[in-house]
Amino acid sequence: MTRALVLGGAGFIGVAACKELMRRGVETVAAGRKDRPYGTFTSYVAFDRTDENQLKRALEQVEPDVLLDLACYQPQDIEAVARHFKGARYVFVSTGVYPDLKGRPAREEDFVPLDGGAPAGLDYLNGKRWCETMLSRERDLPWTVIRPPAVFGPADHTLRIAAYIQRVEDGGPLLVPVESYERQAGLAWVKDIGYACALACDLRKDLARKAYNAAFDGLSLKDLIQGIASATGRPARLYPMPFAQLPDGASPYGPDPRRSAGYSLEHSRMELGFEPSALEDALAETLAWFRVARPSHPGYANRTQELAIAGAA
Ligand SMILES: NC(=O)c1ccc[n+]([C@@H]2O[C@H](COP(=O)([O-])OP(=O)(O)OC[C@H]3O[C@@H](n4cnc5c(N)ncnc54)[C@H](OP(=O)(O)O)[C@@H]3O)[C@@H](O)[C@H]2O)c1
Repeated sequence: MTRALVLGGAGFIGVAACKELMRRGVETVAAGRKDRPYGTFTSYVAFDRTDENQLKRALEQVEPDVLLDLACYQPQDIEAVARHFKGARYVFVSTGVYPDLKGRPAREEDFVPLDGGAPAGLDYLNGKRWCETMLSRERDLPWTVIRPPAVFGPADHTLRIAAYIQRVEDGGPLLVPVESYERQAGLAWVKDIGYACALACDLRKDLARKAYNAAFDGLSLKDLIQGIASATGRPARLYPMPFAQLPDGASPYGPDPRRSAGYSLEHSRMELGFEPSALEDALAETLAWFRVARPSHPGYANRTQELAIAGAA
């Protein structure tokens, strides 16, 4: 039986990944910094992965065949994994590391590892780009990368999906970027990302030194909003306007027209066996959470300004 250590296993995507791994009969040990009550997971270890000694001890204690890493943000964390992980596969969960592709779907090969040495104090996106760059330089670490775009689902701590549900529920209109709201957008359901992570942990597949996109296919921001509208029985009233003039937080997914128009799934379908779910299923689960939790996206505080722009105040 394969044993997986899931770093960040109690987080938003981590819980979905652990559930899918356990469903597939993988012995799953979740990990994070905080102690979590017995019973939340079948198996759980608490340690801080940025402390190399703690990482080393945890790897010696658990002896995983697979390390699924959802808590890696800086290149030195990759170097520490390379020094201490002795198992058969390291799965790094990255992000949309792609350069600006001006409205073209991103293919995995659009990211090219960087040159030189990693600078200090990297922000989120550059941290992930350097993590992937470090992986490309590792000769002995059997790595595979999963690249999710913006992920939504129940308990989405970014609350970006709530921003759209709130505005559909209040009757709209929703301010959206005229340049990109009808293009494919970089969006994914948390359950699908958990599924993609579990596929990447399957040791029967040869996925060494490969990166894979995981996302909805062909879904635009307009489709997402129309999906929320039809699931809630409200109209989808859109107010397209230039991206550069959108008030802060009005459309947290953008999409920024300079970035890629979502992802190409050709490689992940053929090699990983990934297939995204129906939007309706993702929205049904997400709306069930929203109706109970009633979260509010911080950008919703500017709603009066948005309505004034759309002439609907
Ligand atoms: N959510 C998205 O839209 C999205 C999109 C693209 C990529 N991703 C990537 O997917 C991964 C997971 O994202 P997420 O949204 O699930 O994040 P999350 O909910 O914040 O989960 C991250 C988990 O990692 C653990 N963690 C953080 N730092 C740690 C450390 N130093 N040592 C040990 N554990 C640590 C945290 O648990 P403790 O607090 O207990 O330490 C937390 O449960 C991240 O790498 C993120 O970059 C996410």
